[in-house]
Amino acid sequence: MQKLGIIKTNEDAIKLLNIALEHEWAVSFEYTIHAYSMPKATYFYQDPVMQVRKDARAQTIQIGIDEMYHALQLGIVIQQMGGNPSFKTDEVIRYPRIIDNLKRDKKTEDLVTDLYRTAELVEGAFPKIQNMILNIAFDEVRHGDQFQTMIDTLEAEGHQDALCYPPAPENRDKEEIQILHEIMRLENELMHRYLKYTLLFSDHQDLSQRLFKNAIDQMRHWDKNAGTLIKLGDVVRIENAEKDADGVERSFSPMPDLYPGEDRVTSLETLLPTEEELVRLYEQLIPFFPDGEVKERLTPNLALDREHVFTQTYLLENARQIAGLK
Ligand SMILES: [Fe+2]
Ligand SMILES: [Fe+2]
Repeated sequence: MQKLGIIKTNEDAIKLLNIALEHEWAVSFEYTIHAYSMPKATYFYQDPVMQVRKDARAQTIQIGIDEMYHALQLGIVIQQMGGNPSFKTDEVIRYPRIIDNLKRDKKTEDLVTDLYRTAELVEGAFPKIQNMILNIAFDEVRHGDQFQTMIDTLEAEGHQDALCYPPAPENRDKEEIQILHEIMRLENELMHRYLKYTLLFSDHQDLSQRLFKNAIDQMRHWDKNAGTLIKLGDVVRIENAEKDADGVERSFSPMPDLYPGEDRVTSLETLLPTEEELVRLYEQLIPFFPDGEVKERLTPNLALDREHVFTQTYLLENARQIAGLK
């Protein structure tokens, strides 16, 4: 990981904040993947701050969400300073053993704490950025403590060899499983695309809030679908991952890093066809399942995506009515 170094000019700040941003995208993604690959309400730890026993899976998802908020904070500052927030990511890895993922997460937190703490901002030049970095660094210290406690507890309770869910090989031939993977790939892409426009239009608060709400909806669907995949004997896929002989998966491009659209109209134009594609895929998927739990989990996602199609249609129409809207 590159160091932030000495920050003197606006250009330094933009360049160096983007290094941090690429890291935050990767970890927000990596932690949720690690969480979705382990069983629910099975491994608990005593949270050092909350002083209650917490589900390691649920808290790992929560830490992933914290990282997404870090990404948003950094992205908005980069945008306000006239830069382009990067959507590239660092490498994402999944190990077969749960404890190895948590050890990687702990190591990542230590690295990023160091990254933020070694940034040298010229005194008085960027007081708000300095404050933001100090605040984020404290979150990272807290995350590191949480991961360390999870690791210690797994070891103390004899779960060091517990494995992540493996994908069932026979699922490769099941159309419904492949459609669900495609839906999740699209939901992940769409979530990040909504976040890009949330950053791009951060000076237009009503539009950016609406797009942010849709990003959260996509994330919730992705979360629910990750659980549904486990019920179907599969596990969330990491895009463009290579698996080595030890079963370790690595990907340098777990999400797209470029999203089309430079102004409000051209950005909104890209969202509607993707929402329509998601509706089409859910309509294709749901009839595979009889009445019951899986169908009940999928149907609300379809309903909300239909509402997104409605919302995005009028957001686009309204933007087109205003000449010169950038
Ligand atoms: Fe972070
Ligand atoms: Fe963190």
